[in-house]
Amino acid sequence: MQVIHSVVELRARLARESNIAFVPTMGNLHAGHVALVEQARQQGTCVVVSIFVNPLQFGPNEDFDKYPRTLEADCAKLLGLADVVFAPAVDEMYPEPQSFYVELPPIASELCGAHRPGHFRGMATVVLKLLNLVQPQVALFGKKDYQQLAIIRQMVMQFNLPVAIVGGETVRAEDGLALSSRNQYLTPAERTEAAQLHLILGKVSESLANGSRDFDVLEKVAEAALAKRGWRVEYVSIRSQHGLGKPQVSERKLVVLAAARLGVTRLIDNLEVCL
Ligand code: PAF
Repeated sequence: MQVIHSVVELRARLARESNIAFVPTMGNLHAGHVALVEQARQQGTCVVVSIFVNPLQFGPNEDFDKYPRTLEADCAKLLGLADVVFAPAVDEMYPEPQSFYVELPPIASELCGAHRPGHFRGMATVVLKLLNLVQPQVALFGKKDYQQLAIIRQMVMQFNLPVAIVGGETVRAEDGLALSSRNQYLTPAERTEAAQLHLILGKVSESLANGSRDFDVLEKVAEAALAKRGWRVEYVSIRSQHGLGKPQVSERKLVVLAAARLGVTRLIDNLEVCL
């Protein structure tokens, strides 16, 4: 496994590869990332993982400075799984201030986009740059960041980028909490409570499976259940899987998405519901 920090070296190393599977990450890898990299192994003969905490996708009051940077431990987890780790410094990715950005469709201002202005713009811009640098045949993203995955799929399609986008299933702890690098910000009591997010989404999913179609009521009941337990809820929302628009009652492929804060930690989760 080669760890590469420069764009020039990356391009030289990948020039001879014609079947690259790429997993972009911000590092601090957990079992969810490892599962994606294992999936990538099945998809390409050269597996590239990027590790880059992208300043463009963090708001001024967000956790860019305290986001865990654990390159050595990450590389140890990738040994035997990845062929190349691309870990650029910020000025390698942005040698001059980035002034060109991906302009996003209105769906990127809903759900998480409504609470993290500029986040998806910064995310889509770095993903476009990374795809240009690595030029993979396949790129894999976790379904835990469902809205991110939907935006990337649309961007790749509308810009005719020659890459197949694959979504990896969310990996969960035993109690159902979706694995996330931000889980480590939780206090022990919050960590116990955190499993409720998945449980409450499970109840919404159950109601949908039982025929309930009053989406607004289901969303409000779930939001109230979380709020009563001390969560600061940003949203619980039932959407169409495809495009994430508000669904018709006849829609059969739904996803229930949520974002809420426990103490200082913002957690997101979602459950796909196929009726
Ligand atoms: O999901 C992430 O880790 C990041 O948003 C990504 C896709 C690596 C872009 O910085």
